[in-house]
Amino acid sequence: MTFIHPLQIGSVTTKNNLILAPMAGITDSPFRVLCLRGGAGLVCAEMVSAHALHYGNAKSGKMLQVNPKEHPVSMQIFGSDEQTIAEAAKNAEAAGADMVDLNAGCPVKKINKAGAGCVLMKDEAKLARLLEAAVKSVKIPVTLKTRIALNHKEFLGARLAKLAEDCGAAAVTLHARAAADVHSGEPNVDALAKACAEVKIPVIGNGGVLNAARVKEFINAGCAGVMIGRGAVGNPFIFQDICDELAGKTPSSQDSKKRLEIYLNLIEENVAFYGERIGVNRSRKTSGYWIKDFPNAADVRGQFVRMDALSDIRKLFADVLSGL
Ligand SMILES: Cc1cc2nc3c(=O)[nH]c(=O)nc-3n(C[C@H](O)[C@H](O)[C@H](O)COP(=O)(O)O)c2cc1C
Repeated sequence: MTFIHPLQIGSVTTKNNLILAPMAGITDSPFRVLCLRGGAGLVCAEMVSAHALHYGNAKSGKMLQVNPKEHPVSMQIFGSDEQTIAEAAKNAEAAGADMVDLNAGCPVKKINKAGAGCVLMKDEAKLARLLEAAVKSVKIPVTLKTRIALNHKEFLGARLAKLAEDCGAAAVTLHARAAADVHSGEPNVDALAKACAEVKIPVIGNGGVLNAARVKEFINAGCAGVMIGRGAVGNPFIFQDICDELAGKTPSSQDSKKRLEIYLNLIEENVAFYGERIGVNRSRKTSGYWIKDFPNAADVRGQFVRMDALSDIRKLFADVLSGL
């Protein structure tokens, strides 16, 4: 069985079926470019509010920015109103996205209170209207990202995958954990298999993928593709590593030194994209994923998170790298 292969999502063909998950505050343009370099077949942008786009929010507008180096890219939108969802999908298309994804899996209270994210899983009629509105408004493929369940009492993955297919979605991503579990616990591979058996569109499995063994498990369950979230933070080359491992090659090892060099490069790209203040600030949020596994890592991280200037950060990293 071949585990790694191109993926056909509507009119888009990806080079492989390993996909970077959308992660708010993390999968912005600089990080997506890095993950494509790291072997991802498709990268997903952090979710952007359809409502905020409608009101011309500058921060949300910037979230739609697509770098020419980052194709194929999927823009994820969230919202609860058909018109603003249709408008946001059009905006994503105009910005250069290769596909648009509708979020129906986010368990964050603020999002749910506004009628978006995982609450849509229990209002199938509304979810269908939103998805159809997005599908009708653009020429690029529209996909759905949702979960296998809200809680452990009832599995909804197969129903929601079918709903997505019936509404014209080109693929569906299922996070194989219940919304009640947020991001913790083992993925439910049986629930993924049931959903895969229900539809013809590609089902992309997500949740807890950190190595080739889990990729095999998901593909054996019937998934066409596999989406990786936190496994890529601090290791954007995980996609290539998994491809290598499945091809019987030795994956290039990510030692602390290599990881720090990649992180510094990402910080520099963040500064170029956002400016120094915001770029450094955003970079800090994931420092725990990057600055680790060497003797004085905690101390270095402590110094780094107090730094505002890129020049100071470069000096700190140069000192650390020379000692590793
Ligand atoms: C910090 C963070 C932000 C996230 N933001 C989003 C988001 O914007 N949209 C979304 O659909 N899922 C979001 N997720 C969920 C991920 O896409 C993914 O489903 C989840 O992390 C499980 O995959 P993993 O176990 O490989 O990390 C987020 C997860 C994390 C940890």
